[in-house]
Amino acid sequence: MEVIICDNYENMSKLAAGIIRQQLLIKPNSVLGLATGSTPIGTYKELVRLHKEEGLDFSQVVTFNLDEYLGLPPSHPQSYRYFMDQNLFKHINIPPGNIHVPYGHAESVMEFCAWYEAQIVAAGGIDIQLLGIGGDGHIAFNEPGSSLGSRTRLKTLTEQTIKDNARFFSNADEVPRFAITMGVGTILEARRIILLASGRSKAAIVAEAIEGPITSQVTASALQMHRDVVVILDADAGAKLKRADYYRWVYEQKKRLVPQMIGHA
Ligand code: GLP
Repeated sequence: MEVIICDNYENMSKLAAGIIRQQLLIKPNSVLGLATGSTPIGTYKELVRLHKEEGLDFSQVVTFNLDEYLGLPPSHPQSYRYFMDQNLFKHINIPPGNIHVPYGHAESVMEFCAWYEAQIVAAGGIDIQLLGIGGDGHIAFNEPGSSLGSRTRLKTLTEQTIKDNARFFSNADEVPRFAITMGVGTILEARRIILLASGRSKAAIVAEAIEGPITSQVTASALQMHRDVVVILDADAGAKLKRADYYRWVYEQKKRLVPQMIGHA
């Protein structure tokens, strides 16, 4: 696992977008796994800038989003599909048919989940998966206790997640109680993973996930088993890491001697 502590949110976002840019230059038909939440917004902004100002091409890119609230149609302003349209898809040249976001209105959720997994496989698997981390350590909507081998399925949200995500709704009662989410096992199959975290409120859970034991109680800790993860943090989110000095030192060495290896564990 590579851990990079950036000075601020802007640098964190630019670094993440730069890694995705590199991937698209090497493989223009890459399959990207995408995340929602406030954390990746800066990364998406930078990708949009790279598209508009530097011609970064998304015409062959295929995307799979991690999750979606159950019961919210794509047109709902709090749906993750709507979020992705507003923050990324409508600003880049990705063909609409290449975009996959779990469908919150699926008639048969179980069938939909199996179909979603099959679509990922048919696309050749995910090249880079972008992740945020929830306040309780979840990745996607894999709440504490989720099997570390779990696949795309329906999950019940914890009270903490409902409270955390209430800021996007007019009140907590409006936050859906269920979501369709890729499983931890699905996520771990991505060839590379970028985990982003920003802000003081994430510092303790980031330290648990990166430096604590691997446990289904903090599903982000499962990333420790993945062979190619880069964790990109701003200084606040990295504030509770015991080995922060070592991570900074590694990054400095890499920048100086093997810059092409930045973004690789
Ligand atoms: C939601 C999403 C996660 C995301 C998390 C953190 O629960 N399902 O994918 O990582 O929010 O959101 P934020 O980045 O706003 O802190």
